[in-house]
Amino acid sequence: MLSGVSPYPGGVEDWKGCFIMAANIIDGKAVSAQVKAAVAAETAELAEKGIIPGLAVVIVGDDPASRVYVNNKKKACAAVGFHSEEYALPADTSEEQLLALVERLNQKPDINGILVQLPLQEQIDEHKVIAAISPEKDVDAFHAANVGKIMIGDFDFLPCTPSGCMDLIHSTGVEITGKNCVVIGRSNIVGKPMAMLLLHESGTVTICHSKTKNLKEICKTADILVVAIGKAKFVTGDMIKPGAVVIDVGMDRDENGKLCGDVDFESAKDVAGFITPVPGGVGPMTIATLMRNTLTAAKVQHNLK
Ligand code: GUN
Repeated sequence: MLSGVSPYPGGVEDWKGCFIMAANIIDGKAVSAQVKAAVAAETAELAEKGIIPGLAVVIVGDDPASRVYVNNKKKACAAVGFHSEEYALPADTSEEQLLALVERLNQKPDINGILVQLPLQEQIDEHKVIAAISPEKDVDAFHAANVGKIMIGDFDFLPCTPSGCMDLIHSTGVEITGKNCVVIGRSNIVGKPMAMLLLHESGTVTICHSKTKNLKEICKTADILVVAIGKAKFVTGDMIKPGAVVIDVGMDRDENGKLCGDVDFESAKDVAGFITPVPGGVGPMTIATLMRNTLTAAKVQHNLK
């Protein structure tokens, strides 16, 4: 064990009392490229058996952020060799119409995965739509059947963003077993499944949210900190344990309208051991894991898994 002056510029003590270099930037683009390359290779093998994984992406209305996400998903499908179909519906689409489309896609044999881009318009009950997607084709893993399977640790798919965060944590080489893991945010899409995945890997998990008392103190105990609260630069360097792995799920705008995360990167990078940037961290992983889920769905539906 080292002590005294860090051998690295800006080095800090990690959880074992060793000095490590601060601010290893986790490269989400590189990790996502590896995931997509593996998916593309397996897709090419499936193509030899005459199987082309198919993803249907449904978008209702013209929210610009949703449009960007949907375009990126379609591009990623083409890049890995999937068939994709886009269903762009007008903003005044009724719940009944959307449910009818989902039912049609459930029955469509060349479609293995269905993704309905959220959020939906207020006339549509999101829960009803998620419940209508066949669990086998639910590549978001939002359906109650899939959420339950994740809870008991016996699942085919993981929700895309938490699954991508786990890949990024694994890419650091830091062991999760026995570590203090703090998740800020309790959404069904990120916070809750994230906590469950860390628990499955034997982390000691705390979930924080808007009503949590002593948030800063709890954050400082985290060896692994995942932040998904949707507040620009909310977590600052003084809230981070030296050497921690910091995963920033935020996609926010700062005071100048510039894209930033939920973590104040500038102050955090000198304290964290590993940190994801925004952009270029969690974002690219979400699409890569969607590709992986669609491939899994195709294999399950063809009894290959
Ligand atoms: N909107 C923001 N993130 C997601 C996601 O992971 N899946 C879907 N369907 N919609 C989203």
